Amino acid sequence: MENFVEYIENTKENTLNELFEFLKIPSISSEIEHKHDVRDAAYWLVDNLIKVGLNNTRLIETQGHPLVYAEWLEAGPDAKTILIYGHYDVQPVDPIELWESDPFKPFIKNGKVVARGSADDKGQVFVHIKAVEALMKTDGKLPVNIKFIIEGEEEAAFSHIDEFIEKNPDLLKCDAVVISDTEWFANNVPSICYGLRGISYFEIEVEGPNRDLHSGTFGGAIDNPIQVLAWMINQMKDKYGRITIPGFYDDVLELTQEERDNFLKLPYNHIEYIQDLSIGDTNGEFGFTTLERVWARPSFDLNGIKGGYIGDGQKTVLPSRASAKFSFRLVPNQESTDITEKVLSYIKKLAPPTVKVKVSALGSANPVLVKMHSTAIEACVDSFKQAFEKDVVFMREGGSIPVVETFTKVLKAPVVLMGLGLPDDNIHSPNESFSVENFHKGILASALFFDKYSKI
Ligand code: BES
Ligand code: MN
Ligand code: MN
Repeated sequence: MENFVEYIENTKENTLNELFEFLKIPSISSEIEHKHDVRDAAYWLVDNLIKVGLNNTRLIETQGHPLVYAEWLEAGPDAKTILIYGHYDVQPVDPIELWESDPFKPFIKNGKVVARGSADDKGQVFVHIKAVEALMKTDGKLPVNIKFIIEGEEEAAFSHIDEFIEKNPDLLKCDAVVISDTEWFANNVPSICYGLRGISYFEIEVEGPNRDLHSGTFGGAIDNPIQVLAWMINQMKDKYGRITIPGFYDDVLELTQEERDNFLKLPYNHIEYIQDLSIGDTNGEFGFTTLERVWARPSFDLNGIKGGYIGDGQKTVLPSRASAKFSFRLVPNQESTDITEKVLSYIKKLAPPTVKVKVSALGSANPVLVKMHSTAIEACVDSFKQAFEKDVVFMREGGSIPVVETFTKVLKAPVVLMGLGLPDDNIHSPNESFSVENFHKGILASALFFDKYSKI
């Protein structure tokens, strides 16, 4: 009889076609006009979770986009239980003109599936669904109990999964949480992530005169909202790349020498890094390496800015308003609620009386460090080694997955960040892609993981 390894190998083409179907659904959670597409993607998952043999599969309504739940508990009460989390929503596509093709018409280029959501996170979450299928179709059962909880609001400003987890700890009770929503250190370097940064996100509007003005008639006599905004933004960091908000670093956990040494052992190549980005050099907080800056130090970034005239030719205008979106990445042990308060009060203090400044907090997430030593991590290392035939490295990431902290706190189970993305996947950017090899071998790694974890 065919075993699961052969089954995965023999069904590759069909598996890829199914992923294509999932990727064709434009489930952009932050854009209201895609509300129904987000729901379609949730239903697509429900159908597929049922098809591979999971039970109790259902859509769970929230105040926002629905959650998808499924389980297979027939391994029995003595067997281990794995909870798999992922997200079926995707980022907006803009700037659309920089895509080589339609973001929702997946195709293969240079060994990668190109489409919005291919790596973040539809491709990665589908890996585990197909691993379940391979085991069910060949063994007729799973070696562990499995639960899936897949959300549709990870990329949106507000998410309802945390509330759901807090209210349903028994439903989600498990021995380990598995999440594939991170990237490897490099191509061919299977990596397990043990730390994520948090985030505090803001929106600001500066309102000056009650109408746009002639810059000759008024220029020099009144404050220009764009310049006030630019000045305020400039007050966020000093010339050493340190954030100047009072108390901002109070809770920052300093890196240990051991961790700094471990970062240095990773194959980081500065020349390749800057050439890949076509930049003259890196720049950041003084006294820290690039990996330290992005994984273990906080950062401040302007995410968008709006104001004034940017059409053809010149227009001598003194605009009446300007606005921006900006965010801070946070590191252990900063608390996003504390940082949000500190940022809001700093901005209120900065705001000059000549203009009206409105600032509001959008989404936030706390940073996390997951336990590096657990049986689940061991099983993950072994399955990565076997599936990819390479050694595994441990790394942190600069991105955020808000729900990880909630899982850790409420379920008190170890989280395994079993990412399959690659640094050149262009997540959140035009031409997002996911490695076909990582997709297929990821399915094998996931099935091996279920098997190894059941025996450990
Ligand atoms: N999968 C990413 C997080 C990620 C990115 C992990 C890069 C590792 C490397 C996730 O979908 C994401 O984009 N998170 C957002 C969260 C935010 C909207 C609260 C992020 O980090 O910007
Ligand atoms: Mn993601
Ligand atoms: Mn994302």
